[in-house]
Amino acid sequence: MNQLKNKIVVVTGASSGIGEALALESYRHGANVVMAARNIEKMEGILKKNNLQPSRSLLVKTDVTKPNECKQLIEQTIETFGSIDVLINNAGVSMRANFLDCTFETLHQLMNVNFWGAVHCTKYALPHIIKTQGSVLGVSSIAGVNGLPGRSGYSSSKFALHGLFESLRIENLSNRVNFLLVSPGWTSTDIRNRALIGNGSQQGSSPRNEKKMSTPQEIAKLILRGVIKRKSFIVHSPTGISMFWLKKFVPRLVDKLIHNSLKKEEGAPFS
Ligand SMILES: NC(=O)c1ccc[n+]([C@@H]2O[C@H](COP(=O)([O-])OP(=O)(O)OC[C@H]3O[C@@H](n4cnc5c(N)ncnc54)[C@H](OP(=O)(O)O)[C@@H]3O)[C@@H](O)[C@H]2O)c1
Repeated sequence: MNQLKNKIVVVTGASSGIGEALALESYRHGANVVMAARNIEKMEGILKKNNLQPSRSLLVKTDVTKPNECKQLIEQTIETFGSIDVLINNAGVSMRANFLDCTFETLHQLMNVNFWGAVHCTKYALPHIIKTQGSVLGVSSIAGVNGLPGRSGYSSSKFALHGLFESLRIENLSNRVNFLLVSPGWTSTDIRNRALIGNGSQQGSSPRNEKKMSTPQEIAKLILRGVIKRKSFIVHSPTGISMFWLKKFVPRLVDKLIHNSLKKEEGAPFS
């Protein structure tokens, strides 16, 4: 992946899971990385543990729900490195609750991080990425391929991301910017511990067997291969791929399969 050498890669949600793995994997392949998230101490720990050189890495404390912080993220990147080749909109939060038990604040929070966070960062970064003819990525989910029960707010935010990316891809065809949406399957990270329940507090545990999932490192490699090949859409995992194709021909069967599968989760918030 030496095509990443000397490229400037900005990753949101880089303090944990897939974002952390993306930042480290990009760095390993020669990129200069900008890591953005709210937990700056955690990112400092990652930097130290992995011996990232200060001349090739930058940490920016960023809450992606706040447009001014996203503006600062992009401005600091330009001040430090002069350009941007790749923006990875990875910051995300999940949920598990019945729609009827969700407060509006909880549903707004999912949209604010997963959709508006990507809108804010993309809006400020795109003029720079047009100059480098680089890539903008959105980290979606299989919940962005088909709606999932107990994840109504999460699925909605990921579907919104698909609309945004599809529109921007066509709008920027002559600018030669690549827009890549990735829908990873289940990946073992903190996401389910931190998933919101109806009242907006964190779930605090995972209802699934995390050992059977992909690792964030596997997903990071897959995503970066997609960047190099300038792909526009990646669905990962056998479940995601089958869901994607079956939905086109037998959508009601897909609904039933998803219902039956997720109903088996411990404490499923629907019957
Ligand atoms: N793990 C899976 O099974 C899976 C599957 C499909 C898709 N995904 C997607 O992959 C992406 C990464 O998730 P993950 O699994 O790596 O989860 P994770 O380990 O919980 O990481 C989530 C990251 O998002 C950041 N974040 C949350 N709210 C933020 C905010 N307001 N501003 C800035 N950063 C924020 C967190 O950092 P701070 O708390 O420090 O801000 C953290 O770095 C998400 O978009 C998720 O939807 C995950």
